[in-house]
Amino acid sequence: MKHLKQLVLGVLAVCMLLALVACGNGNETPSADPSATPTEGASANPSTDIKTVQEGKLVMATNAYFPPYEYYEGGKVVGIDVEIAQAVAEKMGLTLEVEDMEFNSIIAAVQSGKADIGVAGMTVREDRLVNVDFSDSYATGYQVVIVKEDSNIATPDDLEGKKVGVQEATTGDFYITDDYGDEAVERYNKGTEAVLALSQGKIDAVVIDREPAKSFVASTPGLKILETEYTVEDYAIAISKGNTALKDKINAILKELKDDGSLQSIIDKYIKA
Ligand code: ARG
Repeated sequence: MKHLKQLVLGVLAVCMLLALVACGNGNETPSADPSATPTEGASANPSTDIKTVQEGKLVMATNAYFPPYEYYEGGKVVGIDVEIAQAVAEKMGLTLEVEDMEFNSIIAAVQSGKADIGVAGMTVREDRLVNVDFSDSYATGYQVVIVKEDSNIATPDDLEGKKVGVQEATTGDFYITDDYGDEAVERYNKGTEAVLALSQGKIDAVVIDREPAKSFVASTPGLKILETEYTVEDYAIAISKGNTALKDKINAILKELKDDGSLQSIIDKYIKA
């Protein structure tokens, strides 16, 4: 009996020792994780501790001349992108702040830490991925061609030798420059300025994203959109390079918004089928 008691105590002691060792290992695992790439300013537990450029806020850089994604209504920036960013901010317990700027400044704003995110109907492109990361895509974009109603341009191929207006530094600008050369492109600060130039006969066509194109054409008489698209692309949220904590969080929230249908209802509110 005495021996049995000693044996049990011995086994118990060994078990406790093993448990302690196991416990110690468990504590060490996170810091020893070889896949954890430390980034500048990142904390030890990135998934639960996300720093934003202004405490308590999620700052969104955009260019608010791009209906229905972002545009002014009663002095306020509204639209699909604003509502998506609003939903993301809410789920993170942050207040959304919208900063309107030139489209060409958005990536720099995210890169330099002036804004947390760039949401501007922005197309994912390899050359942009050099400077920022992108979330998962939240919408499909299309570049389309706007011409005058009586134009002899019937398909995108007819743009050869024509003057094409674009919003500077957008994908429309890059495609036309690549396909027809610099001399084919007229760059404008805003899409609306390109559309105005077209209606005044200063240029032959405008290449721009489809939804803003629809809205510009609806408010400018004598213009139409060609049926054949120029390209199809993915819109995503730009995030500071290497800020995986924020990117993962935004992707998780985008998934929730997709799964529960709220992303689609935001889009449906602005784009009628
Ligand atoms: N999708 C195009 C791009 O990424 C145009 C986006 C323009 N957006 C804006 N808010 N003005 O280049």
